[in-house]
Amino acid sequence: MFEDFTLFPEAASTVAGGIDRLYFFLIGMTTFAVAGILSALILFSIRYRRRPDRAAQQIDGSVPLEIIWSAIPLALWVFIFGWSAKLYLEIHTTPSEGMTYFVTGKQWMWKIQHPTGQREINTMHVPRGEVVILKLVSEDVIHDFFVPAFRIKQDVLPGTQYTTIWFEATKVGTYDLFCAEYCGTKHSEMIGSVVVMDPADYQAWLDGQPAGQDPVDAGRVLFENLRCVTCHDAGSGQRGPDLSGRFGRPTSLSDGRTVLFDESYVRESILEPKRRLSAGYQPLMPTYTGQVTDTQINQLIAYVKSLANSDVAPKGGDADGGNGQ
Ligand code: CUA
Repeated sequence: MFEDFTLFPEAASTVAGGIDRLYFFLIGMTTFAVAGILSALILFSIRYRRRPDRAAQQIDGSVPLEIIWSAIPLALWVFIFGWSAKLYLEIHTTPSEGMTYFVTGKQWMWKIQHPTGQREINTMHVPRGEVVILKLVSEDVIHDFFVPAFRIKQDVLPGTQYTTIWFEATKVGTYDLFCAEYCGTKHSEMIGSVVVMDPADYQAWLDGQPAGQDPVDAGRVLFENLRCVTCHDAGSGQRGPDLSGRFGRPTSLSDGRTVLFDESYVRESILEPKRRLSAGYQPLMPTYTGQVTDTQINQLIAYVKSLANSDVAPKGGDADGGNGQ
């Protein structure tokens, strides 16, 4: 029954060791405190027990003692805060370069799309030693993407906002993937696995999959079929902003704010185009909610992203949209 029992999940990502050190430090520190308090309790119970020949003595406090037992815990907590804040930033600062996977949570499964377009459900193949960036979104309720062996856990939200988490796997193997947010009747069945392979094996595995549609190509076709091109092309009379060279950069909004033109902004602009309007444009764009699937949104994002460095597209006179009005 207990053959597979391990006290701690395997540590299979670059951040796992850091999390474990903090965790063991906390365990060690609390164990030390418990041991100290308990032994003092027992010792004092015996030593100062009630005896007929001894009267209780009143003590009215001690300033040095109060300073000591305030200062030591304070220093300790500040130390732990600094340590964990550093770790938190390390885990939640996404590297600028990496393989971007799209993960969609849905009652009750995980849908995964590889950077090259291949798709999987509940199983996710990744190469070892590569930075993998996950763009997570939900089709219905809040889920939570949790891989204990990588020590990563990230809420997955419905709506227009992608959440992001990244990891770099260090060991070949198969690791559990859980949903860690109660999301309905079959929440406990919303499980899967992450398969870490040597880069060469991963490539071979990828080649053996049904060729996924290249997301950029698929996105380009959608961009035309959905008639996005009518307004978003440089030569279209500029009813909408020309999208080339925009991805990954700050962009000005009509209300004067600036926003990062990223995955979430593109998704929001497709689903709720009037919410954060590009500066200099009228709220003409209709919503595409219900007309595009999450997969198609991901493809459109891939296409728009591919335009990030396309300087070839001719820019219209005011195509930069940074001109206020
Ligand atoms: Cu999805 Cu719990």
